[in-house]
Formats: sequence, C-alpha cells, structure tokens
Amino acid sequence: MMFQATSKLGLVRALLGVYSHHSRNRCNMSCTGKVALVTGAAQGLGKAFCEILLKNGAKVGLTDVNAELGSRTAAEFESKYGKNRVVFQKCDVTSTSDFTDAFQKIKSTLGGLDIVVNNAGVGFEMGNKWELTVDINVKGTIKGTMLAMDNMRKDKGGQGGVIVNVASMAGINPNPCGPVYGATKSAIITFSQCWAKNPELLQNGVRINVLAPAFAETEMMKGLSDKSSIHAPVIVEMIKQKVGIMTPEFVAEAFYELVEDQTKTGAILKVAQTTGKQYHTM
Ligand SMILES: NC(=O)c1ccc[n+]([C@@H]2O[C@H](COP(=O)([O-])OP(=O)(O)OC[C@H]3O[C@@H](n4cnc5c(N)ncnc54)[C@H](O)[C@@H]3O)[C@@H](O)[C@H]2O)c1
Repeated sequence: MMFQATSKLGLVRALLGVYSHHSRNRCNMSCTGKVALVTGAAQGLGKAFCEILLKNGAKVGLTDVNAELGSRTAAEFESKYGKNRVVFQKCDVTSTSDFTDAFQKIKSTLGGLDIVVNNAGVGFEMGNKWELTVDINVKGTIKGTMLAMDNMRKDKGGQGGVIVNVASMAGINPNPCGPVYGATKSAIITFSQCWAKNPELLQNGVRINVLAPAFAETEMMKGLSDKSSIHAPVIVEMIKQKVGIMTPEFVAEAFYELVEDQTKTGAILKVAQTTGKQYHTM
C-alpha cells in the first residue's frame, strides 16, 4: 500500500503544519481490503466508525471492554457485510496484555493492519472514578498509538497506515462540566500532534490525525446528568444550543475523511451539527 503522505511534499506539509483542507486537493486511499482495529466499538461513535469502514470495503476488528455488546454488534455487522470481514476481540484499553492480544488476533484473523482508531473514552469527573477517565482516555490512547506504530511502521515490518485518535471539542474549548475530560482530550491532541511532526513516522508510512467532535447522540451524552459528572444542566443546555447534537453517522462521515484523504496527517478535524467540519490549527 502506498501512502502519498510519505512523499517529500507530505513530509514538509506535516512539519510546517500545512494541510490541504479542500476536497479538490484530496488524494484518496481506497479502503477496499484494508484492515482496521477500532477500540470502544460496541456502540456509539465507535460502532458508526466501524460501519463506515465496512461500507467502504474495509475489514474491521471491533474491540471493547463490553464483550457481550461487542459480540452482538460484531454479529450484526457479520450478517450485513459478511463473516470473513468482521471479528470481535474483548479489550480493556487500560490493560496492556488485552491490547497486545487484540492487535495480534485482528492482524492474524483479518490478514494485516492498516487503520487504527483509538476511540474508547469515558467522561467520569467525580468521586473515585475520575482517574479512570485519565487511564482510559489518555493512557489507553497512548498505548493504542504505540502499538499501532509498532505494527504499521515500515521499519518495524509493517506496511504503513493511518491512526485516528478520537479527542473532543472539549479538548479545545474549555467546558465547565468536564475539567478532567477536557484535560484528557487536550492531552490526546498534543500527543498526536507531536508524533505527526516527527519525520520518522511519515517516512515509515504512518499518518496520524485527530477527530474532535462536539455533542453526539450516544450513551456517553446521556451520562452527562448522572452522579459521576459535574451536573450543570443550564451549561449543558447552552452548549447544546450552540453546537447542536449530531448523529453518530454524521460524525462518521468526518472521521472517514481523515482515514481516506492521504494528504491529511497531523490534522485536527472539529465537527459539530451547527458548523459542520472545520480544521483546527494550534
Ligand atoms: N458522544 C459525544 O458527544 C462525544 C463528543 C466528543 C467526543 N466523544 C468521544 O468519542 C468516543 C466515543 O464516545 P461515545 O459517545 O461513542 O461513547 P459511548 O459511551 O457510547 O461508547 C464508548 C464505548 O467505549 C467502551 N469502553 C469504555 N471503557 C472502555 C475501556 N476501558 N476499554 C475499552 N472500551 C471501553 C464502552 O464499552 C463503549 O462501547 C469517546 O472517546 C468520547 O470521548 C464523544
């Protein structure tokens, strides 16, 4: 597989932070036959990311800490897209051994690895659960990115590929309801941007991008009013009025641009119902 971003032009663009944000300049990678690994894939945005990849011909390894729901989602996709294109592996992103096993199982079952999506995330703010937010969102994404690089870098025997790390608009615009959550999402953005600016990554065929969605209709959003969050309904309502609420499918369209468009590396793509897709520069 050839990744255009490994060209000299791609490298210079990445280092300068200059990306092509216009569809007419796109250089699209075909996803047909490519293999993807998605974390937190049992429901919500992760499930929608899997579906758009499958619709575009990829084979998908779903992973999630919730084995029951993950297996059900995988079975639903198997019946829609074919048994040999889908596999589920239980993986808690806080566990290094789960993660390593998931990479191995998906690679060997589906025949390679080209796309890694670090999507699993939670929003606990209060009590003794806030540390889990750091462990899952930050450490889980860092672990997943490191394993992705180990498996996809050409100098490590891989064939190149693309990593999409799922942050949030909350990692860019401070949200008073989510100080811990916002901090974890800022960390994901900075971590991904640092790697994107390292010439070694592109030279070895790996692109890395960040998706930063605003509110989307998922189980996570329903949790905004429970006791593990900072319950400030007036603020949540104000933000909802401003950014609107997306369907997971709407977010998935934006996600897919980061996978498919080979000119994108080091990109941070914000997406909201009211404003659509907007590339962010730091
Ligand atoms: N929904 C939104 O409004 C929104 C907005 C911006 C960003 N995001 C981000 O999108 C991502 C997906 O969120 P969502 O809204 O689909 O949430 P969701 O709660 O619907 O789904 C999250 C999935 O992650 C899984 N998960 C939780 N802990 C895990 C762990 N330790 N290991 C592996 N999997 C685990 C859950 O089982 C679940 O299937 C998250 O990173 C979230 O921060 C969501």
